[in-house]
Amino acid sequence: MSDQNTTNHDELLDHDFDGIREYDNPLPGWWVWLFIGTIIFCVPYVMWYHLGKGDSIHEAYDADLVAYQEALIAQFGDLTGDEATIIEKMNDAGAMAAMAGSFKAKCARCHKADGSGIVGPNLTDEYWLNVKNVEDIYTILTEGLVSKGMPAWSNEFTDTQRVLLSSYVAKMRETPLAGKEPQGEAIAPWPTLEELSADDTGTGDAGEGS
Ligand code: HEC
Repeated sequence: MSDQNTTNHDELLDHDFDGIREYDNPLPGWWVWLFIGTIIFCVPYVMWYHLGKGDSIHEAYDADLVAYQEALIAQFGDLTGDEATIIEKMNDAGAMAAMAGSFKAKCARCHKADGSGIVGPNLTDEYWLNVKNVEDIYTILTEGLVSKGMPAWSNEFTDTQRVLLSSYVAKMRETPLAGKEPQGEAIAPWPTLEELSADDTGTGDAGEGS
């Protein structure tokens, strides 16, 4: 069973694989203690992170993301939901990037992440049910169309966030997508910033003589 030259520490097992034989040595002490250490470590780890109230890596990430978006939005100060502000912010790439996350999180379940519509209308086409000009988007976000299934968002988003979200929605018209069938009436394009400043002295009825 055992070889002539083995000590009892180096005991040869009595099988061989194509001539390769192996000793039955104990694992090194450091390795065994490391192994036992990981088992001991996992008990409080599981209790704290999985059963207790330690932040998971996902929760920490979400909290960081919210803090980051708040900081991003804070730089815009207090915005008002007028036509010029909404149109101007459509060209602010940073603001639009910040709003993409909010739209995905809160609006996509009814309007789809790309805005092309599910139960809520397609926001990328020329056809609108309740919108004639761009401020109407802000009013709808603030008050909702509650009886028609569109919630109000004044509790979830600050005024400034609703202004930026209105810009984000308005910008979707720049890339029309085939999605939910057209609903409502085709409306005129949003005025450009140049048209709005040329129209400053007028009644605010922009869009003519462009
Ligand atoms: C629970 C579903 C739901 C969610 C969530 C939702 N909407 Fe709506 N939304 C609707 C429905 C339904 C309508 C159409 C109301 C009607 O028939 O007049 C609508 C209409 C609108 C309109 C007017 C469209 C038009 O043609 O007049 C805008 C703008 C809009 N939603 C933006 C948003 C934004 C931005 C969010 C996220 C903050 C959002 N919606 C979240 C269901 C939803």
